[in-house]
Amino acid sequence: MVQIAPSLLAADFSALGREIARVPEAELLHIDVMDGVFVPNLSMGPQIVEALRDKTRQIFDVHLMLLHPARYIPVFRKAGADWLTFHVECEDDPEEVLQAIQASGAKAGMALKPGTSPQALFPYGERLHSVTIMTVEPGFGGQVLQREPLEKIRVLKERFPHLHLEVDGGVNRETASLCRQAGADILVAGTAVFRAENPGREMAFLRGESPA
Ligand code: DX5
Ligand code: ZN
Repeated sequence: MVQIAPSLLAADFSALGREIARVPEAELLHIDVMDGVFVPNLSMGPQIVEALRDKTRQIFDVHLMLLHPARYIPVFRKAGADWLTFHVECEDDPEEVLQAIQASGAKAGMALKPGTSPQALFPYGERLHSVTIMTVEPGFGGQVLQREPLEKIRVLKERFPHLHLEVDGGVNRETASLCRQAGADILVAGTAVFRAENPGREMAFLRGESPA
């Protein structure tokens, strides 16, 4: 029921193709895009998405941490993004960004920083494929999961039963069960998966399939 989306942010950047090959059982690969403005960090751009596209058929779940996502939708779609998620806190009109994603043919998601209320998504929820609930301030991997944002899952699930609800930030063996119990069906995990000796086994732990 629960899917794990390994986040490439915690992978070895000098060998991303090889890193992807360590998680063949993952249906989704989470790709974090940062602009140094919306968040105080820089990460991957469309060239990396494009370079990885012919290495795998896995779904590219691209998380846009951008102040102005609208202008980059076509370029990420062309590079091979399957899902495009942007933040409701961005400075573009969310309506415009959502329409651009839908026009591109990608699946549309919206993300919430830990302090943003789920009501901010009510005007868009019906048309979304997924919502990403951030359980850390976006920008860096390896942070500690905040529990309070998990409460938003219940609110969103009740109002929009069709939505995939993804938790992003600080998911590990200790916190994965909290996320599952809260009703998340996708868990993003960077550090936990890519820093594990056996990523496949780690993913089974996070899904709750093997005793830790
Ligand atoms: C943070 C990113 C996350 C990050 C999670 O801004 O959106 O996807 O990679 O990393 P971990 O799993 O290490 O907390
Ligand atoms: Zn992310």
